[in-house]
Amino acid sequence: MKAIGVHGDKENPLLVWESVPDVEYGSDEVLVEVRATAVNRADLSQARGNYPPPPGASDILGLEMAGVVSEVGQWVDGWRPGDRVCALLPGGGYAERAAVPAGMLLRLPDHWSFAQGAAVPEVWYTAYINLFDEGRLRAGETALIHAGASGVGTAAIQLALDAGARAIGTAGSDEKAAFCAELGAIAINYKEQDFLAEVKKVSDGQGVDVILDPVGGSYLSRNIEALRRFGRLVNIGLLGGAKGELNMGHVLGKRLHIVGSTLRTRPLAEKIAITRRFEAEVWPKFTDGRLRPIVDTVFPITEAQAAHEYVQANRNIGKVILEI
Ligand SMILES: NC(=O)c1ccc[n+]([C@@H]2O[C@H](COP(=O)([O-])OP(=O)(O)OC[C@H]3O[C@@H](n4cnc5c(N)ncnc54)[C@H](OP(=O)(O)O)[C@@H]3O)[C@@H](O)[C@H]2O)c1
Repeated sequence: MKAIGVHGDKENPLLVWESVPDVEYGSDEVLVEVRATAVNRADLSQARGNYPPPPGASDILGLEMAGVVSEVGQWVDGWRPGDRVCALLPGGGYAERAAVPAGMLLRLPDHWSFAQGAAVPEVWYTAYINLFDEGRLRAGETALIHAGASGVGTAAIQLALDAGARAIGTAGSDEKAAFCAELGAIAINYKEQDFLAEVKKVSDGQGVDVILDPVGGSYLSRNIEALRRFGRLVNIGLLGGAKGELNMGHVLGKRLHIVGSTLRTRPLAEKIAITRRFEAEVWPKFTDGRLRPIVDTVFPITEAQAAHEYVQANRNIGKVILEI
């Protein structure tokens, strides 16, 4: 089969669509002909040698895909060749075929493209578990969502609002801020305004209940200040570095919780449980149009290199898709 191989060096990885050994599938897995996958920040890091796949996972890039089931393992029930599906993967999405545990599959709505299906698993599961499991966001509360126009951010804004919470989104341009506002968030262009001052302003000086933060170090002290009493800071990324200054006086006085969370390293059983809960609680809202995956651009897989450069340059609103 063909897949993206990583060549070049750490600073300048070169992504090449090339022949690789065919993927094998197990008795509790299906084989999927991949039609679309999506670019994630983790892929950019992995291509630079900074984010190795977990043990046992494919070393091919790609954390999600949508496609058509072609073969079904002997212990698999409920799936047949021809079924249109999407799934979260620990790796291996940038390829013609992927082996997927049956418990990880979601059935694509009939009217959905493969690009829409590939835009869901990684960022929507991330937004879902981190807002509601780690962040314990409830109706009536306020969530501050950094990188609000990102893949995760556009999902998180929709999920927070759908749960009856208020959403504040930060973004680095007026266009991105306008998109956050279009989704229903209070939008802050953090390059024009100090997000902490704006958060205080829109919350009558109180601050927010939950922060979904992919930035880390450079936002740490302002995030802690932006939280109200009993607030929860959920860190999911280090776009602004790993180190910052933490005022433990605020953590103690406001009785804050600080949580770090990753999706990829969770055991398969936990990912299957997340998939099934997501299917029950969120998936029907895509079918009836209450929620929608946001697709920015679709590149052919042969242009994966250009797609990575586009994401690296922070140009996307929502997801960047690779079509096979
Ligand atoms: N922990 C997990 O399980 C998990 C899972 C999925 C994703 N993530 C992480 O979540 C983050 C978002 O992922 P994504 O796929 O949604 O990303 P994305 O669509 O590529 O968007 C990331 C956005 O972050 C903003 N950004 C970049 N550098 C920044 C900085 N130094 N300070 C502030 N903002 C910055 C940029 O938007 P602006 O132009 O608005 O600045 C950029 O477009 C990534 O860090 C990713 O690694 C974590």
